[in-house]
Amino acid sequence: MIRSLSLIFLVLSASASALAPNERVGNFRLFDQAGGSHHLHYFSDKKAVVLLVQDLSCEASTAAHQGINTLASSYGEDVEYFVINSTSDRAEIAASSGEARVLVDDAQLVGRTMDLSRAGEVLVVNPESWTLAYRGDASDGLPEALEAVVAGEPVTQSRTQAKGCDIVYAPTNGHEISYTDTIAPILAENCVNCHRPGGIGPWAMTDYTMVRGFSLMMREVLMTKRMPPWHADPTIGHWSNDRSIGREEIQTLVSWIDAGSPRGEGEDPLTQYASHKPTWGNLGEPDLIVDIPPTDIPATGVVDYQYKYVTNPLGKDVWVRASQIVPGDRTVLHHVITRFGEQETEGPRAGRLKRRSSIGGGLAGYVPGAEARDLPEGTGTLLPAGATIEFQMHYTTSGAATTDHSRIGVYFHNEEPEHKINAMILANGGIKIPANTKSHSEQAIRKFDKDVLVYSILPHSHFRGKAAKFVANYPDGSSEELLNVPNYDFNWQTTYLLEEPKFMPAGTEIVYTNWWDNSSQNPANPNPNREVTWGQQSFDEMIFGAISYREIDSSEGDSLAGSE
Ligand code: HEC
Repeated sequence: MIRSLSLIFLVLSASASALAPNERVGNFRLFDQAGGSHHLHYFSDKKAVVLLVQDLSCEASTAAHQGINTLASSYGEDVEYFVINSTSDRAEIAASSGEARVLVDDAQLVGRTMDLSRAGEVLVVNPESWTLAYRGDASDGLPEALEAVVAGEPVTQSRTQAKGCDIVYAPTNGHEISYTDTIAPILAENCVNCHRPGGIGPWAMTDYTMVRGFSLMMREVLMTKRMPPWHADPTIGHWSNDRSIGREEIQTLVSWIDAGSPRGEGEDPLTQYASHKPTWGNLGEPDLIVDIPPTDIPATGVVDYQYKYVTNPLGKDVWVRASQIVPGDRTVLHHVITRFGEQETEGPRAGRLKRRSSIGGGLAGYVPGAEARDLPEGTGTLLPAGATIEFQMHYTTSGAATTDHSRIGVYFHNEEPEHKINAMILANGGIKIPANTKSHSEQAIRKFDKDVLVYSILPHSHFRGKAAKFVANYPDGSSEELLNVPNYDFNWQTTYLLEEPKFMPAGTEIVYTNWWDNSSQNPANPNPNREVTWGQQSFDEMIFGAISYREIDSSEGDSLAGSE
């Protein structure tokens, strides 16, 4: 009896959720087949967004593309047009879609939510209200509907019968998904590290009631790929700190939320995370804790970069295997970059670190969300007896005056490790980003002059950063895409850690391309009307890549190169 009732409910809710004209279209973010990333609400400056539902096995849906493309293009900048595909994977789509820009709905969440059950159907979204203005046939009704929407007039025929093929989605039954056995473990694996007391998330997943209370917001951040925060293309490279969530896990979470987040039977596994996260995390108590001299932060305004100095308090050389900064006040501390070396004793730069120093190096910086880790196996950083550590602290004001007392914890090797870890910096101080431009790119290029093993890649730009890509051009003429970050977000300064260190022969050229969005469509952009050049502050820009690596001895080189 109970079963049949819930079945009836499901059928009703499925038909009720078939999105009709004038209903709201939820925001979403999807990759395209070439690795670009697009989210619907970015197109708020358009008069209309047009979507053609594609299924590669359906002639009608592929045939419609050319006509719609021509129609949409006739409106120039006013209309944004995409094909959307919920039935094939990215590689298949890339192989057979030609020029069309196809949104890959790999988790089928957009398809299900908007009821895209007919390949060949066209949808017109009105960005003024984020409502559906039209759905139906590609020729019969679309031109009139689009003309009306662009003109800001009501659409007389907002629904027509699309010609095409049915798309059938496998049934899901969110009511049968167990919170205890399925949902809580997915959250524990993908979210709780930040969403727990003492974590960086703004709310803690301490039990079912919290999760249920935030479930609609969870749905939204999953649909828009805002959470978990991971901005790289999952098909390029393998990263040991990959925070992205799997397609099945997202489907499961959203089905469960759409079924009303049922509690069901069983204990609540999340209550074990209600306690405060330990200060020093998984690395434990450090061998040395250094207090960074405190900084007073005003309630408002721009705080210049703060430079703080501490001389190695041990008075002896140590080999460092790991280090981590524990922020004092996370609401204002944006990031920290830590270097060490010798201080200038005179001149205008007195007190600052010398630009070149025989005892120079770096320790861990701070960015939100980064897990502290040991340096790669067999490697370390020598912190010499007389070195001075420089902390470059970047603060953003939060509306309340505060004092930041951050600390750095340092972990030592017992003996000298085999290899020293190095960083290759890719920067280009000559960048010039034109005002009011949605996409502008520049490059920084460098070559390894020795055989190396590469461990990690960091792209870095500021508020206007939009996307980043790293490509290796090998001396044998071949190329490889190492990292694609199509959805760069300044708030998450992620260092991408390679799952397996990568051998690169001497002569390998690294090309780092960065894109900026200096338009008013970029909500982080403080001023789209300015040409932007290189500068330290976030309202200026940078292209600043860092690749960590170690050199390979000639004896080692052959075996490593051979094993590639
Ligand atoms: C690496 C840390 C981290 C992980 C992992 C993470 N979050 Fe978050 N989450 C944050 C931070 C920080 C914010 C606030 C800033 C922001 O929204 O970007 C946030 C915001 C949110 C919000 C929005 C709250 C609001 O007020 O807008 C929701 C909902 C959320 N997270 C859900 C999740 C879910 C669900 C997962 C797992 C699938 C997850 N998060 C994984 C750090 C994280």
